[in-house]
Amino acid sequence: MEKKLLFANIDDPKQPEIDTYISKGGYESFKKVIKEMKPEEVIEEVKKSGIRGRGGAGFPAGMKWSFVPKDSPKPKYLVCNGDESEPGTCKDRVLMEHDPHLVVEGMAIASYAIGAGHAFIYIRGEFDYPASQMRKAIDQAYQKGFLGKNIQGSGYDLEMIVHTGGGAYICGEETALLNSLEGKPGQTRIRPPFPAVEGLYACPTVVNNVETLSNMSLIIKNGGEWYSKIGTEKSTGTRIFCLSGHVKNPGNYELELGTPMSYLINDLGGGIVDGKKLKAIIPGGSSTPILTPDKIDTKLDFESVVEAGSMLGSGGVIVMHEDTDMVWVAKVLAHFYMHESCGECTPCRQGTKWLHDTITRIYNGHGKMEDIDILLDLCDNIEGKTICPLGDAAVIPIRSTINLFRNEYEHYINHKKPLVENKFMSFVNG
Ligand SMILES: Cc1cc2nc3c(=O)[nH]c(=O)nc-3n(C[C@H](O)[C@H](O)[C@H](O)COP(=O)(O)O)c2cc1C
Ligand code: SF4
Repeated sequence: MEKKLLFANIDDPKQPEIDTYISKGGYESFKKVIKEMKPEEVIEEVKKSGIRGRGGAGFPAGMKWSFVPKDSPKPKYLVCNGDESEPGTCKDRVLMEHDPHLVVEGMAIASYAIGAGHAFIYIRGEFDYPASQMRKAIDQAYQKGFLGKNIQGSGYDLEMIVHTGGGAYICGEETALLNSLEGKPGQTRIRPPFPAVEGLYACPTVVNNVETLSNMSLIIKNGGEWYSKIGTEKSTGTRIFCLSGHVKNPGNYELELGTPMSYLINDLGGGIVDGKKLKAIIPGGSSTPILTPDKIDTKLDFESVVEAGSMLGSGGVIVMHEDTDMVWVAKVLAHFYMHESCGECTPCRQGTKWLHDTITRIYNGHGKMEDIDILLDLCDNIEGKTICPLGDAAVIPIRSTINLFRNEYEHYINHKKPLVENKFMSFVNG
């Protein structure tokens, strides 16, 4: 079922104004934590909620916060990841645009919990409007005394800064994001050390996704236990799913975790356009393996989607119908990952280009049957051999399309043309 917690006020045009936000109980949770709770108690409450990160990997937020060393003499930082770079994903921008104080309050609560005096929100360069909404909200929060020195007389100081990036996919990866925030090229860092111990300016840092942090005000207001009862036992709460592709009603939908994917696609999404048959679903942004129509009843929670052979990832559900040329899909995604590789490790830098060139050769009608095995061999030589998961992500669409739709590759090689008529964004020549 649709369950609007984060989206409760998303349609109110006045919601971005701080007075509207406050009139609906906004900033009460932040006031509660700074006046009545110790940082450890806030972390405990978030742990109790069971909330897992909404940025992709699904790591428990409370546990991540507890990794920040309490006795470190260094300053601590909170970084909100608003890079939103995963193809198929467009939820964080909606929160930043339409309920920016929910994000600011979540960031403030998290900052207090980990003992940070500075919080940054890193927003992708193309997101002019979300960035301006966040800047406006932060200014208003300073004016009302929710940011700055001695907040609400509590003795707690917090500065909040908006930082826009250049729009590189890799800058969504937390260590590349931190490098970019420091003014360096957006390339990844080898872990360990993890950011919680050595992050921004080599100081303890927590990086959390916009949606993850937007839940904090609700968790504090209603209690971790309340939150843990929503969703499933191990995937608590709601998630915003970004439904795109060949559905009648694409859009962002907030659902209780554990809701069947068929409900999202057929009931909310209105089913497949033009009465066509469903062919393939990417359930969690382009970095997650493709699922076939027999998996449409898979429950949208972290465990069930893994059991079905994919991942919940960033919540970007991409639907493709029977006219979709899967070799073309692989080519477009291969181009994306080749273009976005930061170039730091050889298997990713060279391998993504080889993947792209080999698929393009097949697509252009010059492929040989052994190219399919060459592609799989390339995948083996990239996966697990790179610094960050972008290399693995690049392999996923290629392996998926070969494993599930090998006949389409073979048809291209034998007949120099696609097996299916490609009407899926055929204007894009990736
Ligand atoms: C290539 C790549 C791109 C990523 N892009 C994003 C992104 O745009 N937004 C995001 O929140 N996390 C992104 N992540 C995940 C982050 O590294 C990090 O795990 C996340 O921000 C942590 O927040 P969470 O614990 O709240 O999920 C990306 C990871 C990789 C490997
Ligand atoms: S896997 Fe790719 S994107 Fe990630 S660090 Fe290596 S070269 Fe950069």
